[in-house]
Amino acid sequence: MAEKFFVTTALPYANGPFHIGHIMEYIQADIWVRFQRMLGHQVHFVGADDAHGAPIMLKAEAERITPQELVARIAAGRPKYLRGFHIGFDHWHSTDSPENVALSQDIYRRLKAAGLVYSKPVEQFYDPVKGMFLADRYIKGECPNCHSKDQYGDACEVCSSVYAPTDLIEPYSVLTGAKPVLSTSDHLFFRLSDPRCVDFLNAWTGAPGRLQPQVANKAREWLSGKGEQALGDWDISRDAPYFGIPIPDAPGKYFYVWLDAPIGYLASLQSYFASGKAKENGEPRSFEEFLGAPDTRQIHFIGKDIIYFHTLFWPAMLKFAGPPYKVPDNVYVHGFITVSGEKMSKSRGTGISPLRYLDIGMNPEWLRYYIAAKLNANVEDLDFNPDDFIARINSDLIGKYVNIASRAANFITRHFEGALDCGAGTEALRRQAADLAQQVRESYAAREFGRAMREIMAHADRINQDFDARQPWVLAKDPARRSELQEICSRTLYGFKLLSVLLTPVLPEVGGRVARELFGLDRPFRWPDALEPPQRVNSYQHLMTRVDPKQLDALFETAGPVAASGTAATPAAEHAPGRASSGAKPAAAKSGPGSSASGAAGAAAGSATGESTASAVTLSIDEFKRLDLRVARIVAAEHVAGADKLLKLTLDLGTATRTVFAGIKSAYDPAALTGRLTVMVANLAPRKMKFGISEGMVLAASNESGGPYLLSPDSGATPGMRVS
Ligand code: MSP
Ligand code: ZN
Repeated sequence: MAEKFFVTTALPYANGPFHIGHIMEYIQADIWVRFQRMLGHQVHFVGADDAHGAPIMLKAEAERITPQELVARIAAGRPKYLRGFHIGFDHWHSTDSPENVALSQDIYRRLKAAGLVYSKPVEQFYDPVKGMFLADRYIKGECPNCHSKDQYGDACEVCSSVYAPTDLIEPYSVLTGAKPVLSTSDHLFFRLSDPRCVDFLNAWTGAPGRLQPQVANKAREWLSGKGEQALGDWDISRDAPYFGIPIPDAPGKYFYVWLDAPIGYLASLQSYFASGKAKENGEPRSFEEFLGAPDTRQIHFIGKDIIYFHTLFWPAMLKFAGPPYKVPDNVYVHGFITVSGEKMSKSRGTGISPLRYLDIGMNPEWLRYYIAAKLNANVEDLDFNPDDFIARINSDLIGKYVNIASRAANFITRHFEGALDCGAGTEALRRQAADLAQQVRESYAAREFGRAMREIMAHADRINQDFDARQPWVLAKDPARRSELQEICSRTLYGFKLLSVLLTPVLPEVGGRVARELFGLDRPFRWPDALEPPQRVNSYQHLMTRVDPKQLDALFETAGPVAASGTAATPAAEHAPGRASSGAKPAAAKSGPGSSASGAAGAAAGSATGESTASAVTLSIDEFKRLDLRVARIVAAEHVAGADKLLKLTLDLGTATRTVFAGIKSAYDPAALTGRLTVMVANLAPRKMKFGISEGMVLAASNESGGPYLLSPDSGATPGMRVS
């Protein structure tokens, strides 16, 4: 019987392009979805951008655009990756959408009516300059334990001790440098500790087959915590300013991003139903009817870092909101992808850029196969290793799979005009095919993709061995052995068709071409096709090329900040360090905007990177436009006690005043600067320096033989004018 699935992947934060971790998650889910569809099941597979929260608000602010504009820009970049890697979401939406506002407010009202929401004062650090409460990551100070400077509000990166932000010595706001003050405000809490919730979650997490054993254990540990470890209630509100959904009965308060984020799964599904696409996809009922139906299976694919939200809060929210909301049937958790054994850094965006992968012409199905071959149903990390990648693709996909087709098909088209006949052995082959298809089906269903690939490749080995043992190239020379030649080549092509069907969830493009071009089907493969001996074969068309190791070198070359941020691919700098061949790790960008201390502190234009010639990196016009360059008047310039390179400048931007520490002391007398105009980068993230916060950067020219020379506009320009 056809099952009905509602499948999602975690909603990526809309503050940056996809990284390889996202793509890995989507490939895993997409393979599973394609597999279910090949079995004839109905699947509705949706995603969305997770738009809300303080980081996105602050990032937009730094770029002088609205958060909506930032989210729209990121969303516009999504299809290229999804299409590129054949990830077939049926719909992509946003948590910043009317559907999500309505659903989040509805669920909140129901939870409140169920007696699971209460209000309680919370004392928290507040930035008096910014007028904003500060999450732990926006507070830094000296570690109370080892006295390292500039440690975050929740934990010390040097000695690993964990503490409250109030324990920091000389705390400061990362946003403005101001000394944070303690302030109290009422927050709304979801009563996760309520016995109803705990009882429900014990049952939900313990249901057989619902969660992977490691995940269920983790959830039970959280649920049974005592004392310090006891399950706490959940703070679900944030005070303005916040980019989020307003809480209906609490002016100035917004839902914490993690409340409305998973509701975004439902918002995307609702918008998909409204678009009419669910109907096209075989579902005649309404969104509410489908969502609430007892036989709709709701499945979430997520990574290991967000288990808490998906196995405690999310099911409890859905449960106590009541119908048509329904608790998830499964939450499938994967580990993290590492690159050559290195953890990927979210902020630096190292690792491999998926966009670069596509732009340098690497085949997306190589990556899909490689990831499939390394995935299992456990919560284990998976390593992308370039040499292993080359070996697996070239030996499995090319050596074992693609090559058989070209060898066998050529004999059949040349000698038999495409007609296939497996002879007396057909029934035995059919039984073999059925056995293998069953095994592989169980592996896919259990998300044991690595096992499925091993089963498939073991069979490919058998087919190749049979083919070679019968020496068809010898048979082809002997007219008396014509039928033997036809038989072995037919068996081989039956095998190739079987392998192709079984690989189609992983290789949808190649699978589709084999179905159409080689076997003349007018539709993509379905699972039962695996068992059917083909009757005819068309002439073989080239299916897939080998990986050239040079492509991996190109993938790992550093192309400066652009490739690192993954927003666009650029030709790599010629002398950039390569892959393992040069002994270098996949290199992180060293000269990203804002990462250069000397740049932020002082004169820029070339001196920030120390390059004397023009950079090889090209920018798109959109990237250039992200730079907010402004005419500024230096209203005050002063020496800084203890600094031998810096001057402290006060800059008038027309509507605002900024303080900038500039490394121009060697060339300028402060008195001579006062009153003159220059150009500044106005949207550089503020930087805490030894002498205070620097809120931008002035532009100056220099090289080995001279400078810095401050830039100035022609007369007529006034403070605040945009430079473009
Ligand atoms: N916005 C939240 C999720 C909200 S779901 C209602 C979030 N976003 S994220 O962009 O940080 O991560 C999205 C997904 O990518 C998560 O499932 C996360 O585990 C996954 N990954 C992030 N880094 C990863 C790897 N290095 N490897 C594999 N997956 C990784 O969390
Ligand atoms: Zn410390």
